[in-house]
Amino acid sequence: MIRRFGQCFALATERTTYCFRVMKTGHLEHLYYGRRITVESDADMEALTEKHAFMPGNTNAYDQENIDFSLEDIRLEMSSYGKGDIREPFIEVIHGDGSATSDFLFEKAEIGTGKEAYRTLPGSYDENNGTEHLCVTLRDRQYELRLELHYYVYADCDVITRSARLVNESRETVRLERLMSLQLDFDTPEYIFTTFTGAWAREMRKTDTRVISGRHVNASYTGTSSSRANPFVMLSKADTSEDAGDCYGFNLIYSGNHYEAVEVSGYGKTRFVSGINPQSFSYPVGPGEDFEAPEAVMGYSCAGYNGMSRGMHRFVREHIVRGEWKDKLRPVLLNSWEAAYFDINERRLLQLAEAGREVGIELFVMDDGWFGNRDDDTRSLGDWEVNRGKLPDGLEGLARKVRELGMEFGIWVEPEMVNVKSRLYGTHPDWALQIPGRPHSEGRNQRILDLTRREVQDYIIEEMSKVFSTEGISYVKWDMNRTFTDYYSGALPPERQGEVAHRYVMGLYHCMRELTLRFPHILFEGCSAGGNRFDLGILCYFPQIWASDDTDALCRAEIQTGYSYGYPMSVVGAHVSACPNHQTLRTTPLETRFNVACFGVCGYECDLCDMDEEERDAVKEQIALYKRWRDVLQRGDFYRGRTFARGEGGVPGNITEWTCVSADRGRAVGFLMQKLVQPNTQSGYYMAKGLDPARRYHFYNRRTEDCRACGDTLMYGGVRLKQAFAGEGYNAQARYSPDFASRLYFMQAEDA
Ligand code: GLA
Repeated sequence: MIRRFGQCFALATERTTYCFRVMKTGHLEHLYYGRRITVESDADMEALTEKHAFMPGNTNAYDQENIDFSLEDIRLEMSSYGKGDIREPFIEVIHGDGSATSDFLFEKAEIGTGKEAYRTLPGSYDENNGTEHLCVTLRDRQYELRLELHYYVYADCDVITRSARLVNESRETVRLERLMSLQLDFDTPEYIFTTFTGAWAREMRKTDTRVISGRHVNASYTGTSSSRANPFVMLSKADTSEDAGDCYGFNLIYSGNHYEAVEVSGYGKTRFVSGINPQSFSYPVGPGEDFEAPEAVMGYSCAGYNGMSRGMHRFVREHIVRGEWKDKLRPVLLNSWEAAYFDINERRLLQLAEAGREVGIELFVMDDGWFGNRDDDTRSLGDWEVNRGKLPDGLEGLARKVRELGMEFGIWVEPEMVNVKSRLYGTHPDWALQIPGRPHSEGRNQRILDLTRREVQDYIIEEMSKVFSTEGISYVKWDMNRTFTDYYSGALPPERQGEVAHRYVMGLYHCMRELTLRFPHILFEGCSAGGNRFDLGILCYFPQIWASDDTDALCRAEIQTGYSYGYPMSVVGAHVSACPNHQTLRTTPLETRFNVACFGVCGYECDLCDMDEEERDAVKEQIALYKRWRDVLQRGDFYRGRTFARGEGGVPGNITEWTCVSADRGRAVGFLMQKLVQPNTQSGYYMAKGLDPARRYHFYNRRTEDCRACGDTLMYGGVRLKQAFAGEGYNAQARYSPDFASRLYFMQAEDA
C-alpha cells in the first residue's frame, strides 16, 4: 500500500513500513524503514522527523534562509554531491559548466499500479499487475535536470524495489559520474554489514563486519557481478539471529560492476548505498537523453535472517524468474564436464548417456569441447561449428541418439568470448575488447567480445540461434569464463571509454532477451566459471545458475548456505561429482554429495561408467528418491538451522542443518551434516522449521528414525536422533569415515 499524507509518503508491505517526507527546503527526509507501524496521517509521522537544530561549528548550513539546517546530519532519500552532505552521494553529475554540484528538490509525486519495464535493463515484473508504484520527481535547483525516484511495493514478499532515472532537459551534455539505485539512511551506528565474498570455487563466504565508523565497501570490478563480492548484502543488529531480530537484505538487478557501501558519518548516522560501481564509470547524457539506474531490491524482517530470506526467496521466484520454466520441475541432468573434460566424442558421450539412462537421468548435457578445434581451452571460442571428427553425425545426430535413449539433450556455449586462435578473431580482431597496440592481460587464453557493438550482438544472436535451433536441444548452459581487463572499445571515441562496462552489460541483456524470446522452450542455465555472475539480472532471463565449480560436498554446503540468504535454492545448480573431489581432493560420502546437491537443482557430473555396481545402485536410488521429493525440494520454503558458517554464539559450527517445506506445509525434507567426527559424542538432534505447529507429522529416514509428533514438537523440541553421525559403532567395512557424514529426514503430515 502506498499513501500520501500532505508532504509525507508511507509505503507498506504486509509486515514492513517505509516512510519519508518533503522538507520545507524541498529535500526528501527519510523517516523510517522497519517492522510495520501505524501511519494514518502525517501527524503519525511527526514523531519520526529530525528535530535537531544544527549548531554551526565548521559544518555548512544549507543556505542563507536555512541557517540552522545542514544536509550533513539529516537522513535523506537521496543525496546530491556538493551542497554540504559529505557522505556517500546518490548522484554525481558534471555539468556543462564544469561544476560537480547538484541540488535535487521535490517537484511532484505520482502513485499508480503495475510494473513498468525498463528500456535498457531487466527488472522485476508482476504478472497480476498488483504492484503499487510511486514515482517522485525531483528537479535540480540550478540546472535543467530531472531525477525520478521509483518505488515498487511487493506487499506479500515484504520487498520494496527502488530505481532512479536521470533525464537531461537542458541544452548541454552532462557527464554522469555516479547514479546509485538505492540510498537508505539510519539514525544509529549499530549495524553489522554482511557480505558474501570469495573467489573462484569458494563463492559466497559470509562475512560480518560491524561498521561503527568510516566506510566499508563491497564492490565488483570484474565486469561481472563477481564471485569476489556478490551484490546481495545484509544489514542487521548484533543480536540478530537466524529467527529473531532486525534484518535488512539488499540486492541489485544487475550483472556488471556494482557497489554497496555502508558509511557511518561524523554524527553517527549510518548510510547504505547500492548501485553501479562509480569506479571507471562516466556516462554522458545528452540533451533530451536519459539514463536508467538498475533496480535495487530491499527486504526487511524482524524475524531474523530466515525471515528476510523467505521474503527474498518468494520475490525471486515470483517476480524475477519468468518464462516457461518458472514453475516447471527441473530435470535431473548428467553433465559431461568432470567426466570427460575436453576429451569427448560421440561414442564416449553416448556411453555416458546410456549409463545415465540406467540410473534415471532425464537430461544429458554435453559441456565444452564440441566445436572447432576445441581440444583444450586455448582455441576455437567464437567458431560455433561442430567438430565432425568428434561428432560425425553433427549436433542433430547426437541429440537424436540421446533422445532415442529416452533423455533430453543439452549443450554448453560461451557466446561472449573469443580465443585469439580462432577464425572469428582472425577475421574481426577489432571485435574483442582491447586497447589498440597495447599488450593484453591473459585470462583462460581468451578475450571478451565487445558487446557494446551492435554487429557483435547480432553475430552472437545469429550464431547462437543456429546452434539452439538444432532439433532436439532443450537445455543450454551459457558460460562466461574470464574477468575484464584492458577495458577498451574500438567502437567508442577516447572520451567515451567510461561507458564500456555498462554498455557491455546492456549489450549482453539484449542478446539474452532476444535469444530467450526466440527459444522459449529451452531451459537456460547461467554460469560464469561457477558463480562469477550469479545475480538477479541473469535470473530475469535464465531460471537457474551454476553456483560454483566447487562440487566438494563440504564446500558446497557452505556455498549453498551462503546463496540461501538472498536466493531461493530453486535457482542454484548443484551436482554430485566423483571423489576424490577434483577441486579439493577430498573424499566425502556419496550419500552426502547427493544430500547437499538435492537441496539445489540437482544433477550429476561424474563418470557413471567408472562407478562400481554398488555406487551405481546407490545413485539410482538417490535419483528415485529425489523424484519423489523434488516438488518439495524445488518449490518449497527453505530454512537454515545451525550452519558451519555461523554456529552457536557466532563461532563456526560443526553442524549444518536445513529444512525445506512444501507450500501447504504437508511435506518437508530435513538435512543434517557434520564436518568432522567428534569422538564419544553419540547424541544428536534435528530441529525442524516452517512446519504447521498444529499438524501431526510422520518423521522418518531411510535407516533409523521413525516417530510421530506434532509440528510444534518437531520445531521447538526437536527430534533426539537414534543415530546421528559418529557413534555408529566401529565398522571396518565402511567405505568412508563418518567425517562429512550427513542424513536426510522426511516429514509427512498425517492428514496429507
Ligand atoms: C567453466 C564452467 C565449468 C565448465 C568449464 C568448461 O569453468 O564453470 O562448469 O563448463 O567452464 O570449459
